[in-house]
Amino acid sequence: MFPAARQRCSCICFFFFEDMISFNRNISLPPRFGGRMVLNDKENSVGKIVLVTGGFGFIGRHLVADLLRHGYQVRVLDNVVEQVHPTGEPERIRGAEYIIGDIRDPSLCRHALEGAEHVAHLAAEVGVGQSMYEIARYVGANELGTAVLLEALIDRPVRSIVVASSMSVYGEGLYRDRDGRLHNAIRRRVDVSGADSWDPVDDAGLPFEPAPTDEEKPVDLASIYALTKFAQERAVMIFGQAYGVPAIALRLFNVFGAGQALSNPYTGVLANFASRLANGERPLVFEDGKQRRDFVHVEDVARAFRLALEVPSAAGQVINIGSGRSYSITQVAELLAAAMGVPELRPEILGKARRGDIRHCFASIERAQDLLGFRPKHLLETSLDPFVEWVKGQTVIDRSAQMRSELEQRGLVA
Ligand SMILES: NC(=O)c1ccc[n+]([C@@H]2O[C@H](COP(=O)([O-])OP(=O)(O)OC[C@H]3O[C@@H](n4cnc5c(N)ncnc54)[C@H](O)[C@@H]3O)[C@@H](O)[C@H]2O)c1
Repeated sequence: MFPAARQRCSCICFFFFEDMISFNRNISLPPRFGGRMVLNDKENSVGKIVLVTGGFGFIGRHLVADLLRHGYQVRVLDNVVEQVHPTGEPERIRGAEYIIGDIRDPSLCRHALEGAEHVAHLAAEVGVGQSMYEIARYVGANELGTAVLLEALIDRPVRSIVVASSMSVYGEGLYRDRDGRLHNAIRRRVDVSGADSWDPVDDAGLPFEPAPTDEEKPVDLASIYALTKFAQERAVMIFGQAYGVPAIALRLFNVFGAGQALSNPYTGVLANFASRLANGERPLVFEDGKQRRDFVHVEDVARAFRLALEVPSAAGQVINIGSGRSYSITQVAELLAAAMGVPELRPEILGKARRGDIRHCFASIERAQDLLGFRPKHLLETSLDPFVEWVKGQTVIDRSAQMRSELEQRGLVA
């Protein structure tokens, strides 16, 4: 990891309220932009073109809407992956320009970058479990896709590029031992089934206590998906440093909210549970359901992307975007069942682990607060009603049994 990315942000340069940003800072820019510029005043966004790759996706759509609201012009490049968009015709947001095609097409990337001043790179195949057997698909779209985009950027430099990275790059989160010491390289047994504890344990067999994970935690790639997200992140940061393009990687934790693909059983715990509950089925919970994750609302994530594109001090940084809170998976299943009016559909605890899955990971969001002024506005426990309203308007096909059997057939569920 680069020193810049490692650097702990001990000094808080400025405080501000999101959406009220009005500060001017000069930063170095590629020659095309005359070397210096001023970012961030709202009038500076007006008319600027942002290319959003993967802009038809769950997060991409919210980002497109947020950028349009803030005066940007938005261009989307997306190849409408069938697993995510089963109808093949995702709804377009008025005011945005759409280019349908694969990010691995060099001429399409060059075309999409014409006149663009910022890039938000979200296009990716998304799913930990599936990445463990559709390896070429994940490496192809995520790694080669990023490479083709970056090559196109050599001749068309932009003012900033933000890439969607993932908490999955951490593997296990940070842990504390009985004496309060932090451990950043904890792994549990590969085959945890039948063990006394699902949690990682110390030499005496006692479980470590999970702690908020910050960006200093060394990466530990436990799945092909995580590998490709790290490759995307590094490629963008290396490119940014080499070509003088401000580059930022946002490590997103579990994103939730309206619009998550209910058709894709490989991603989105809440979407999976909603699909089960809407069909009168109990949510399927791997392990014992006590594994902890951080759920961050999609509108907060969209805002974080915009802030990262705009805020000069974010350049060269890797930044966690989460809620800073942790929830057990059982708790999430119960909260959602209650919000959907079916509290009797209690989670079905499978007592099995998926290979490549980790036990606990939730975010420290200090760096996002310090650098971006990011503060989550929507918490899981108070944001489920709008999500449930949205689910009610969807045709929900539950594909979790299919997902489970795909994994089991390949021995990927222990
Ligand atoms: N949703 C989460 O909880 C989460 C968490 C961490 C990181 N992320 C990352 O955020 C980004 C967006 O995630 P999402 O949840 O919106 O996923 P999504 O599947 O809803 O959206 C991804 C979009 O990318 C498009 N796409 C995929 N391959 C492409 C290609 N080769 N060319 C062009 N477009 C392509 C798809 O059609 C889709 O519209 C991804 O990079 C993902 O890895 C998401």
